[in-house]
Amino acid sequence: MFEIKKTQSCLGAYIEGLDLSKSFSEKTLGELKNALSDNEVLFFRNQNITHDDHKRLASAFGLMQSHPAYPTIDGFPEITILENDEENPSKIEEWHTDMTFKKNPPLGSILIGKIIPETGGDTMFSSLSKAYDDLSHEWKERLEEMNAIHSFEFGFKESLEEEGGRERLADALKENPPVSHPVIKRHPVTGRKVIYVNRLFTSHIEGDDTEGSILNFLFDHIHQEKYQYRFSWENNSIAFWDNRSVLHKPVNDYWPQLRRMERITIEP
Ligand SMILES: [Fe+2]
Repeated sequence: MFEIKKTQSCLGAYIEGLDLSKSFSEKTLGELKNALSDNEVLFFRNQNITHDDHKRLASAFGLMQSHPAYPTIDGFPEITILENDEENPSKIEEWHTDMTFKKNPPLGSILIGKIIPETGGDTMFSSLSKAYDDLSHEWKERLEEMNAIHSFEFGFKESLEEEGGRERLADALKENPPVSHPVIKRHPVTGRKVIYVNRLFTSHIEGDDTEGSILNFLFDHIHQEKYQYRFSWENNSIAFWDNRSVLHKPVNDYWPQLRRMERITIEP
């Protein structure tokens, strides 16, 4: 058994009393799955786990994915390394949901903080279900009919513009043509509706005007502070987010310090 300590915000809970280096029962796994769907993001402290433990936890939730653009750990192609330092500052600045440029974006990601800077480097999370709930009835009806285009090329435009970027990412580009997702999606477990757009990968709403006024309205709405929780990392902290109902955003205020994270992303 473990304890679920909800944050003061509308999403997120800290899981206490669960050692992720040990395997756990089906019952505990079921409770953890419910906790994830209910709270949208789970946080753990002091989990000094191995790569195999990381994999075991992730695979209890589903198949593991690899990322087309990031480096991985030797012998562990499922574990993506997110490492930034003086020479390689983080390029992701925007609020986003991971990999919505795919037809079936991931269920979630399990991110471990391995080397955390002394100051800064928090991650922000934001609830897309709560943001949906607060929409007016008129907006809910209107958005129900709409679809938006999500694109790898749009999301990675800065990397593509770098010298050699287009060559380096040629395969990823070819394998990930733009896809269309409904603007309003239903969470498969909770049945809650969410606003499914993000500034990083959503290029436009089909049929929206050229200024993108609907999309801009939605970004202003979903980026409000009242839907957010800000997580401060320590070494061996874990954030496990439900990618079907939250946005997240790294706070890139730690340059030139080193920050190293390891992530496994789980298939839907
Ligand atoms: Fe992300």
